[in-house]
Amino acid sequence: MRYLLVKLLALLCTILVTAKRQGIAQSARRSLIPRQTDNLQSNVTWDQYSFKINGKRLAIFSGEVHPYRMPVQSLHLDVFQKVKAMGFNAVSFYVFWGIHEPKRGELSFEGFRDLQPFIDAAKKAGIYLIARPGPYINAETTAGGFPGWGTYTPGIWRTSNATYLEAYADYIQAVGSTIAANEITKGGPIILVQSENEYSGFQAPYTEDFVYESKLIQSLRAAGITVPLTTNDASPGGHYTSVNVWGYDSYPDGFDCSHPYTWSPNAVPESYWNAHLKYTPNIPNAVYEFQGGAFDGWGGSGYSTCATLTGPEFERVFYKNEFAMSTTMLNLYMIFGGTNWGGIAHPGVYTSYDYGSAISEDRTLREKFYELKLQANFLAASPAYITTRPQNAGKSQGAFTGNQALKTTQVLDKVGNKTGFYVVRQSDASSNAVQQYNLTVPTSIGSLTIPTMGGTLSLTGKDSKIHIVDYSAGSTTLTYSTAELMTATIDGRDIIVLYGNSGELHETAIKFATEAPTVKVVSGNTAIKQKQLPGGSLALQFITSGQTVVQVGDNTLLYIVDRTNAYQFWVLHPPGEGPLASFNTENPIIVKGGYLLRSVTLNGSTLALTGDLNNTSSFEVVAPKAQSKTITFNGSPLTLTSTSYGTVTASIAPSLPAVSLPNLSSLTWKTANSLPEISATYSDAAWTIANHTNTTNPRRSTTPVVLYAGDYGYHTGNILWRAQFSSTGAETAFTVRVSGGSAFGYSVWLDSTFIGSWTGDAVHGDYEGTFKFPKSPTKGSNHVITILQDHMGYEEDWTAASESFKAPRGILSYSFVGSPSTNVTLWKVAGNLGGENYADRTRGPLNEGWHLPGFNDASWATSSPTTGISAPGVQFYRTTFNLNVPSGVDYPISIVTTNSTASPHFRSQFYVNGYQFGKYINHIGPQKVFPVPQGIFNYQGQNTLAVSLWAADSTGAKLDSLALQINAKVETSMPAVVNQPAPAWTQRPGAF
Ligand code: GAL
Repeated sequence: MRYLLVKLLALLCTILVTAKRQGIAQSARRSLIPRQTDNLQSNVTWDQYSFKINGKRLAIFSGEVHPYRMPVQSLHLDVFQKVKAMGFNAVSFYVFWGIHEPKRGELSFEGFRDLQPFIDAAKKAGIYLIARPGPYINAETTAGGFPGWGTYTPGIWRTSNATYLEAYADYIQAVGSTIAANEITKGGPIILVQSENEYSGFQAPYTEDFVYESKLIQSLRAAGITVPLTTNDASPGGHYTSVNVWGYDSYPDGFDCSHPYTWSPNAVPESYWNAHLKYTPNIPNAVYEFQGGAFDGWGGSGYSTCATLTGPEFERVFYKNEFAMSTTMLNLYMIFGGTNWGGIAHPGVYTSYDYGSAISEDRTLREKFYELKLQANFLAASPAYITTRPQNAGKSQGAFTGNQALKTTQVLDKVGNKTGFYVVRQSDASSNAVQQYNLTVPTSIGSLTIPTMGGTLSLTGKDSKIHIVDYSAGSTTLTYSTAELMTATIDGRDIIVLYGNSGELHETAIKFATEAPTVKVVSGNTAIKQKQLPGGSLALQFITSGQTVVQVGDNTLLYIVDRTNAYQFWVLHPPGEGPLASFNTENPIIVKGGYLLRSVTLNGSTLALTGDLNNTSSFEVVAPKAQSKTITFNGSPLTLTSTSYGTVTASIAPSLPAVSLPNLSSLTWKTANSLPEISATYSDAAWTIANHTNTTNPRRSTTPVVLYAGDYGYHTGNILWRAQFSSTGAETAFTVRVSGGSAFGYSVWLDSTFIGSWTGDAVHGDYEGTFKFPKSPTKGSNHVITILQDHMGYEEDWTAASESFKAPRGILSYSFVGSPSTNVTLWKVAGNLGGENYADRTRGPLNEGWHLPGFNDASWATSSPTTGISAPGVQFYRTTFNLNVPSGVDYPISIVTTNSTASPHFRSQFYVNGYQFGKYINHIGPQKVFPVPQGIFNYQGQNTLAVSLWAADSTGAKLDSLALQINAKVETSMPAVVNQPAPAWTQRPGAF
C-alpha cells in the first residue's frame, strides 16, 4: 500500500515537474527523428507502424520473464516453449545488477546468474528477446536492482552524477557485452535493449537528466550493443525520448487484488494513442510493459485473487483496447512471475512472485494462458493489423453501433487499404450489463448493418470483441465477421476457426466472385442461416456453441466453436532452416486438443507432435495430407481416424504414475539452537565492529556510531547486533528504533534474558519499541544487548534522485530509559557470512543462511519444527528424504504449512538443498503454499529440507503443520530437468 502511494505521489510530481520544464523537453524531443539504430545494423528496423525483423514486419507479442526468479536454468526452455505455444514471439527480461556485482568491481555470472543458458533456451524455442539490463529495473526487487553497496556510495543515483556513472560502468560493460554477443546481428535472439526503466519521476529539485540519459546510451553502445535501444516510460509522459524507439507502460487495473472484480469505470486508457502521436508519431506504438497480472504484498489477499483481477475478461478488454490503438509492440508483465527466493524481494512483496500470470509460479497454465493464445493467434494471422491506425480514438462512444453504452474504435489498415478492425467494449469498463447492438460499417460491398438477417449482437459485461471487415484468410476473403477468428492455410485450404462466447449470435460473410459457394455442415449440429448479400457475399449466421465444422466451397473449412472449444486450438510451425530455424512462421499445422502442444516436426511422411496432457484428450489434426498418415505424440504413434472433411482424430490418455511423497511429520528431524549468541559464554570476537563515525548515506546517522548494516557490507537476511554497556544502575528499559522494511520484526535480549519483540506488521518499515529490563542492573556491571532483526530487502528507487533505495536497514536510534547517560561502549554486527565477500558463489549473494545440505547433524537433538520451542529464540531443523518422481511427468511440488493460532508470532524460512524458497510469517501471511521447482528439489534422489523457526513470543512457537504437496499432474514432453548445483556444507573459513 505504502509502495503504491509512493508510486502515485511520484507520478504526480513527475507530471508537475514535466509541465514546468516543458520548454526544454519539447526542444529535446523535436530533434528526435527516429534513426534506424544510428546505422549500426539493419536486422531490426522500424517505421511508424511496426518493427521489422530481417525486413519482415511483425507485431511483437511478448511476455516478461525474469531469469533470476527461476534459478533452475534447465527449466527456462519449458517456460519459453509455453510462451511460444501461446503464439507469442518474444520475451522481455530484466537483468538484476545487484546479484551480478554484489561486491563492487567483482562481476559474477556464476551458477544461476549465468545469462547464457536463458538466452540459448529462448533461441531454441524460437523466442526473440528484449533485454532490460537497467541499471535501474524496479521489478519489486531489493533496491530496485541496485547493488547493496550503492547504499553507501555517494552521489545522487539515477542522475548524471559522476560517482553514479562510475558505479554502473563495469556492470553495463559486462552485461552489455553478453547482450551484444547474443544480438540478432550475430545470429542470437536479442532484438531490442531497454535503457533504464521508468525514468519518469524525479525528486525535486532534480528533473529529467538528459546527460545521464545520453551517457547511459553511450555506455550501452560502447559495450557493443547495436540493436535499437528502447525505454519504458511510466506512462506516455514523453521521458527519455532520445532512445531509438521510445515506449511506455500501463497497469490500468492496479494492484489491489483483494477486490478482484472492481474495475474503475475509466480504466481503459484510450487517450494513450494521442500521447503516442504527440511524442513519437514516427515510431510504432510500443508498450514495453502492460499489466499481465499484479504483485501482492505481505498481508495481501494471495495470488489467486490477482489472477482473477487480471483474468480472461481483463485480457479481453484491456489487450483488445491496446489493439484498438494499433499497438504492435506489446509486452505483458509478467507472463511467468517465478519466485522471490533467497533475498530477491523488496519489502513490498513476499516469496511468491506468481503475479497471477498466465503461467503460474509452478509453471502450470491458467485459463488466462488459453485466452492469450486466441489473441496471439489472431494477431499472427492478421498481417493487415500491423499497418493500421485507429480512426476515432477518443471519439469511440456510440460509434458504429449507436449504443452509447458501447465504445467502438475503427482501426484501418493504411497500407493494404482494405481491412478494417472494429474493437467493441463497454463505455464504462466496470459495467456487467448485457449490451445488444447492431454494427453499421463500410465494407467493400457498401455500408452494411450487421447482423444482416435479423437478431442482434451482444456484449456481456466485461468483454470486448474485434469485428473484422474485408479480411484475408489465405485466399478466402471474409467480407466481415463478428465472430473472432484464427486461421491458417494448409494444403491450399483455408482453415478458419470462428469463435464467440457460448450461446452468442454471430455472422460471418464470405466473398465470392461469380457464384455463391456451397455450404455443407460436415460435423456438429449448429444451425447455419444463409443469405446472399448484393455485391457477391454469402452471409452465414449462427450461434457459437460446442463445435460445428462447415465446408464452404472447395477451399474453405470453418470451425464454428464456442470459447471453450476455441481454447483447445494450437497453431504450430515445424522448424525452418538456418540459425533461426525455430522462428519459422511458415507451414502451419493446426492441432485441437491437449493441455499443451509444444512442437511439431515433419520427418518424411511422419508428423511428430510433442506436448503435455493432464487428462484423456481427443485430438484433431489439420495437416497436409501427405503428413497426416502417421502422427506421433511424444514419440508414440497415434491410432488415427479420418474425418469426412480431410482431418484426422485420435484419443490419447496420459500416463500419470502414482507418486508418494514423504510424510514430513513422520521423518526424523534434527535440531539445534540457532541463537547461541545470547548465551553467557558466547564470544563475538569474529564479528564486525560497528565503529564508523560517519556515513555517506543520505540519512544522517544520529547514533554515536553508524548502525546501518549496509555500511558494514550486510545487505540481506537476518542481522544481529550486540551492544556492550556498563550499567549506571538506573536503566529500566531499552528503547530502540530498528529499520528492516515492511513486515520486518526484531527481538531483543538483555544478556541471556529475552526482553521483547516487535513482531511486525504489513505496514511498518521501521519501529521504535521500548523493552523493559526485568530489574535494573547493578551499578558498574557489564551487559550486552542483542538484537536480532529481519532485513526484508531495500526499498526501490522509483523516483529518480530520491535515493530512497539507500534507506538504511539497522538501528536508527536507541536510548536507555531511566539513564540517558549510559553509553554503549562497543557495537558489533553480524550478517551473512562474509557480507559482500559472500561465501556461496553458486546460490549467490542474497541466499543468506545456515542451511546447506551435507552437514553432519548426528550430534544434534531430535525434534521437529511442528514440535517447536517453548521459549523465544531461533531454532533450526533439518531432515533428509528421497524423492522418486519418474521422468516424463511434470509434478510440481510445494511446501505447505497452515496458520497457527497458538503462539502466532513467528517467522520461518524453508531451505531446499540450501536454496531458501520460503519465508513464512505466520501472523502476517498470506502465503502458505511455497512451490519449489524441480531442479531445486532433486526428483530422483536425496533432498535436505531445513527450516528455521524464530519465535518472537515469550511462549515460543511451532509450525502448525508442514507437508509436501503435488500441485498438478501432467504428462510432459518438457526438456529433461538438470538439478541446479547444490554444493554441500563444508567448514568455511571465518565461519562462526
Ligand atoms: C512497473 C515497473 C516494473 C514493476 C511493475 C509492477 O511500473 O516498470 O519494474 O515494478 O511496475 O509490478
